[in-house]
Amino acid sequence: MALINYLTSVQFDFGALTLLPAELKRLGISRPFLVTDKGVRAAGLLDRVTGVLGDELAPAIHDDTPANPTEDAALKAAEAFKAAGCDGLVALGGGSAIDLAKAVALIATHPGPLQQYAAVEGGVSRIGPVAPLIAIPTTAGTGSEVGRAAVIIMQSGRKLGLLSPHLLPELAICDPELTLGLPPMLTAATGMDAISHCVETFLAPAVNPPAEAIALDGLSRAISHIERATKDGSDRDARWNMMMAAMEGAMAFQKGLGAVHALSHPLGALPQRPHHGTLNAILLPAVLRFNRPSVGAKWARLNAVLGLPEDGDAAGFFAALNSRLGLPTGFTAMGISREDLAPIPAQALKDHCHATNPRLASEDDYRGMLEESL
Ligand SMILES: [Fe+2]
Repeated sequence: MALINYLTSVQFDFGALTLLPAELKRLGISRPFLVTDKGVRAAGLLDRVTGVLGDELAPAIHDDTPANPTEDAALKAAEAFKAAGCDGLVALGGGSAIDLAKAVALIATHPGPLQQYAAVEGGVSRIGPVAPLIAIPTTAGTGSEVGRAAVIIMQSGRKLGLLSPHLLPELAICDPELTLGLPPMLTAATGMDAISHCVETFLAPAVNPPAEAIALDGLSRAISHIERATKDGSDRDARWNMMMAAMEGAMAFQKGLGAVHALSHPLGALPQRPHHGTLNAILLPAVLRFNRPSVGAKWARLNAVLGLPEDGDAAGFFAALNSRLGLPTGFTAMGISREDLAPIPAQALKDHCHATNPRLASEDDYRGMLEESL
């Protein structure tokens, strides 16, 4: 059985940001709550948005998004949302700001505690309509602007996915102009997140050929443009294509992700708070080597997109791409030790992405993949 649906509306192109006031009005939002972070503010992107909104739609601004969003941060932001009398949200930033805004939209309309809504706690059916949200990504990676998930570090310390069609933003405004100033390392790391989405969801076993076609198109764009965007941030064509690849990766991953994300979610909750995209970049080669025996003819299709022979080494391709991009070659370079990794395999087994990996991984298998990525 295949359930296939595409629900998000997207305004996509250079200059799309100028549509924000009209889109807020269309959604009936008169007092927006704008969730962002201090980096986005410092980069001047918040000023651009407030400039477009003018006095009539002046937002309440919350720029306290942590690098990996937490339940505490979401509760604090939800308080501010209520105190300011807001009737909708605008998320401006990378995956963290967008996921935090989704959690705020949920908390503002649902009773606590938040963890009961996590997918692994059976929370999907507990989530009903939430406050309306427009997502404006400032990175090209997460795709959270068209995704139905928010990944939050709960008060329990677990990094869990909230999953529901109700968490899809009402609209994504994808304006590549906003990514022109993204620094090289963030461009590379967030771009590898998009690549990992395309690869993982293509290989996930659910029946959804349209999602696979979208994922392969996204992968093709990303591998041809990630190095250009990283080397020259002002390359508009490369930025446009990376933003499209990120959007496509997340549109497609309704089909499910896999072991890369089952591992990077608990890793992201480590005290070092390592960057999600960088973790995925490091994990992708080892996970592909593990998955290869179970993906059948998809291995050749993946290799075709990468420009490799049918039985080529896709894992090696991504390892080489990581080094050309200047990303860390392993966890050690990110300040993560073997001791840090000890609890991760058991947590990966409980992650919502575990079940959709093409080859069922045991705790020992996960340990092996982590060891290879050290
Ligand atoms: Fe991701």
